Amino acid sequence: MTLPSDDFAYREGSLHAEGVSLTTLAEAVGTPAYVYSVAALRHRLDRYMVAFAGMDCLVAYAVKANGNLSVLSVLATAGAGADTVSEGEIHRALEAGISSDRIIFSGMGKTDAELAYALTLPGLQLNVESTPEYERLTALARARDVRPTVVIRVNPDVSAGGHAKIATGKSGDKFGVPVEEAMALYRRAQDEGAVRPVGLACHIGSQIRQVDPFGDAWRRLRQMTLALRAEGLSVDRLDLGGGLGVDYAGAGAGATPADLADLARRTVGDLVVKLAVEPGRSIVAEAGVLISRVIHVNARQDGPTFLVLDAGMNDLVRPALYDAWHDLAAINPRSGAPVAYDVVGPVCETGDTFARGRLMPPLQAGDLVAFGGAGAYAASMASEYNSRLPAAEVLVDGERWALVRPRPRLEEVLAREVRPDWI
Ligand code: LLP
Repeated sequence: MTLPSDDFAYREGSLHAEGVSLTTLAEAVGTPAYVYSVAALRHRLDRYMVAFAGMDCLVAYAVKANGNLSVLSVLATAGAGADTVSEGEIHRALEAGISSDRIIFSGMGKTDAELAYALTLPGLQLNVESTPEYERLTALARARDVRPTVVIRVNPDVSAGGHAKIATGKSGDKFGVPVEEAMALYRRAQDEGAVRPVGLACHIGSQIRQVDPFGDAWRRLRQMTLALRAEGLSVDRLDLGGGLGVDYAGAGAGATPADLADLARRTVGDLVVKLAVEPGRSIVAEAGVLISRVIHVNARQDGPTFLVLDAGMNDLVRPALYDAWHDLAAINPRSGAPVAYDVVGPVCETGDTFARGRLMPPLQAGDLVAFGGAGAYAASMASEYNSRLPAAEVLVDGERWALVRPRPRLEEVLAREVRPDWI
């Protein structure tokens, strides 16, 4: 379970983020709002830093999980590099103080403009994810007379991941270059000389809670490394990807960063390569909650009791998109027998359902609740569907807190649009 936790715990019956009352925050910034804990961010990054210490490994935080600049700055200060998948994410990482030689540019559909931008950044690791991308990149690099550092992302044909929509490592998935083609591409890159092939990468999926699939994929990288070296090619870097899961639903202990590091030692530890890992969710998911206010309780005569919240699928899309479970806790729980609620948002779709039959302490209009595990893939996947304003983001550190992304005003949102004068 993700709530309560060390960093989001009850004090005198009221849920806090570290030393700050979530009730106070809800009153100060309004709801819905995302609240992140600095201690939780540092602690979760630290698990990777400690586990991989002594292995020459870059912990490249996957910005897509949560790209908030303050979150990134906390992680950057604590030693993280960045794994990015768009020009926008690269800008965020740079803005947070991560130097370009600690940034990885992944993604299977980088545009020419994005590749050209990446070519201006010294030391950036470009993960080439297909043969056509390689061909576009070499043309751009030649035209600019630069020789980028390239890693080939392999599709190791391993199935893994918490949901079919987030599994990426199986042949037939759109990601990575199949093993034989990747070997040929590596040789070709070396021969053609337009880029500097330095290694191999893989990323097999997300919300993976066992080590076995990682082992399968990394052994594949090992075999490829040895085979390429036997041909006289140098392979100096292995990017092992991200994907470690978190315990959203109290399913019990799963693999940890320490388990991954042990596995890396066993599978690729003797290869004398520079390593990278790209964790996203396992660093930020449990470092954030989404707080929301109950709009009303609708105990319908035909059965369900709907708990209608002011947060919707536009603020936390994971239940709608992946049938994901998120903890939901009353911030100031009342005493009384638990009630089974169908927890829904106000968006005009039945898909805007967070949970069915969820047992909660009795709740009333105006009460506050918190979704756990909302530090990852919540704010970063949010939309303005139904013209709902993006929720505020708050960072808490001990007793202090800051509004790190205010909720925009409706006028600001409307002002982004332009009406042609011919209407
Ligand atoms: N590296 C690459 C190349 C990736 O594609 C991803 C995630 C990561 C690293 C980080 O994976 P993580 O450690 O966060 O599992 N929106 C989905 C998750 C999509 C993950 C996509 N790729 C969700 O909410 O479950």
